[in-house]
Amino acid sequence: MTYGDSFKWNDFVRSDLSRLKGFGASKSSGPLKDLKAIVKLDTNENPYGCSPRVRQALAEFSYLNLYPDPEQVELRKLLEVYTGIDSDHIVATAGGEQLIELILLLLLERGDRVINCVPTFDAFRLKSTMYGGTVVNVPRDANFAVNVKAVKAAIDDRTKIILLATPNNPTGTVTPREDIVELLDTGGPVLIDEAYCEFSGETAVSLVNQYENAMVLRTLSKWAALAGLRVGYGIFSPELASYLLKIKPIYGVGALTTIAVRESLADINYLMDNVKAIIAERERLFHELRKFKFLKPFPSQANFIFCHVLKGEAAELCQALRSKGILIGSFNIPLLENSIRITVGKPEHTDVLVKALREIGSHL
Ligand SMILES: Cc1ncc(COP(=O)(O)O)c(C=O)c1O
Repeated sequence: MTYGDSFKWNDFVRSDLSRLKGFGASKSSGPLKDLKAIVKLDTNENPYGCSPRVRQALAEFSYLNLYPDPEQVELRKLLEVYTGIDSDHIVATAGGEQLIELILLLLLERGDRVINCVPTFDAFRLKSTMYGGTVVNVPRDANFAVNVKAVKAAIDDRTKIILLATPNNPTGTVTPREDIVELLDTGGPVLIDEAYCEFSGETAVSLVNQYENAMVLRTLSKWAALAGLRVGYGIFSPELASYLLKIKPIYGVGALTTIAVRESLADINYLMDNVKAIIAERERLFHELRKFKFLKPFPSQANFIFCHVLKGEAAELCQALRSKGILIGSFNIPLLENSIRITVGKPEHTDVLVKALREIGSHL
């Protein structure tokens, strides 16, 4: 640190954070009012929107002057009903993102190692580094399956946690239950990130009752279309839950969140019909994408489809779509070379996208 005439933040900011590369995946898409004219398929949001019951209840809520319940009693009870797991195993957070942060904050001492099954959700790298961890990347295979043997071989006495997204973002790959069990059998903490599990129909949540070291992350951003409200939760042993309740932001999850979760669960059939529509559309979109010779789509169990771009540049394709009012995600980093990720929209979004891809493809 330098005290003197010329103050520079760089002299005070943690040196590893001053060098940190920010989150790779999301960029601002501008003011929300401009979004109506855009086909937004870039950040895995739910195109159907939240339950109308949520909108109505939030409009009628009149206790914004009061702090939310710091013990989340009603919220955790609601999540107990949804998950079938007792509420003493559950902690709610401002999005799944905050749960990742709290777990890393709780577990990591500086220099502890975090095993990351790459390519995966970029927040795992970012947050692990933010909380003082050293990220150990274990590459997935060519079809993006986790290399369980390599993960086990990478464990050493500084390893604090294995991070595993299933379905994986951005590839849409599900990790089979037996592989998750094998990772849990190593005896170290394993975070099973199930942000997209409602679209795969597979969950490892029952393992929480068998394995003290199992942690499951969930979110209402995707299936319940509450991404803008920020609500996620974790399911784990009551001992870990009580540690996390202690270190979470005191009020953290906003008062409107409980209302939104309550109304979403009261309208679960409506929301699950939308999930079913997204799953059906995912299969149609996959079928359509396979027709383009310049794309190689990978089968997905989530609400998005990952594709290698075989001809031309992914970034240029992305830009060409953007100029037609269609937003998708693109990557060009090691293990995610020249590739794109397309969120599954409504049927009319698929139609617009396919038409645009045909036009762009005719010039390739
Ligand atoms: C794999 C994965 N985990 C967790 C999250 C966090 O979601 P949220 O913070 O919206 O709950 C995301 C969001 O895109 C994700 O892709």
